[in-house]
Amino acid sequence: MAEIGTDIEKARALLLAGELVAIPTETVYGLSGNALNISSVTKIFEVKDRPQFDPLIIHVPDFDSVQSYTTAIPEKARILAAKFWPGPLTLLLEKKSVINDLVTSGLNTVGIRCPDQALTHELLKSVPFPLAAPSANPFGYVSPTRPEHVEEQLGNKIGYILDGGVCPVGIESTIVGFEYDMPVVRRLGGLTLEKIESIIGKVRVQINSSSNPKAPGQLRSHYAPQKKVILGNLKVLVQQYPGNSGILSFQQDFNLPYQYVLSPSGKLDEAAQNLF
Ligand code: TXA
Ligand code: MG
Repeated sequence: MAEIGTDIEKARALLLAGELVAIPTETVYGLSGNALNISSVTKIFEVKDRPQFDPLIIHVPDFDSVQSYTTAIPEKARILAAKFWPGPLTLLLEKKSVINDLVTSGLNTVGIRCPDQALTHELLKSVPFPLAAPSANPFGYVSPTRPEHVEEQLGNKIGYILDGGVCPVGIESTIVGFEYDMPVVRRLGGLTLEKIESIIGKVRVQINSSSNPKAPGQLRSHYAPQKKVILGNLKVLVQQYPGNSGILSFQQDFNLPYQYVLSPSGKLDEAAQNLF
């Protein structure tokens, strides 16, 4: 069992000692460790049972810190960060050598983001290194949005879970990379494409399905629930699978006991928060 609490000092001490701590963010809980310490980074891969070809995101307290870990920052990256940080946006930027290849799985870019969560912000300000943190779930499982989820999934492998309650966004950050300084969305997430495009105009979206880490978060099996999932027309499916299945719908309600409606009022962000 991991201890669940709001003791930033304790979280800090563990991180300084090279240990891992689960941290809340506005998107999902992260499994964090000192991004500049090889042994901490190695522990993250081990605890998550994550293949080393899948790179980690690093978390920083503010935009100024980005310069310590990256070489060039494209103008549109600056604009996006100025508008959406702290928030559910990860930028892929060319890394300095202080960021070990282990963190980036050998890529020359590093994923970097400034989360919008008060406790985690305090914690990030209090340590002299960025926190590498993938979502705090075993590889291939659904991301945790409550401290109890982390406890269920990784409680026997970590010492402390910093309790920030329920994650308000509920899905992971949107990832934006750059090709010749032009933004390319690599993972759709908590920050909508509409919001991004309202600031920097039309952007390319390239989400490949491959085991190549240049295509983040898009392994063939990524968010894998343990049950079979069927997508389709609900009216048809309800008749086909009466009783023995659960229904997850955006808005449509059949008033069945085994149905969960993600957003009765039809709001995308509400549905996202309720999904995991
Ligand atoms: O909201 C989030 O982003 C959460 C919270 C904890 O910050 N973190 C998260 O991390 O979702 P993770 O590791 O579960 O997902 C990050 C994705 C991975 O699929 C990885 O392949 C991709 O980002 N990624 C990381 N660095 C990359 C890089 N340099 N180039 C391409 N993809 C990268
Ligand atoms: Mg993940």
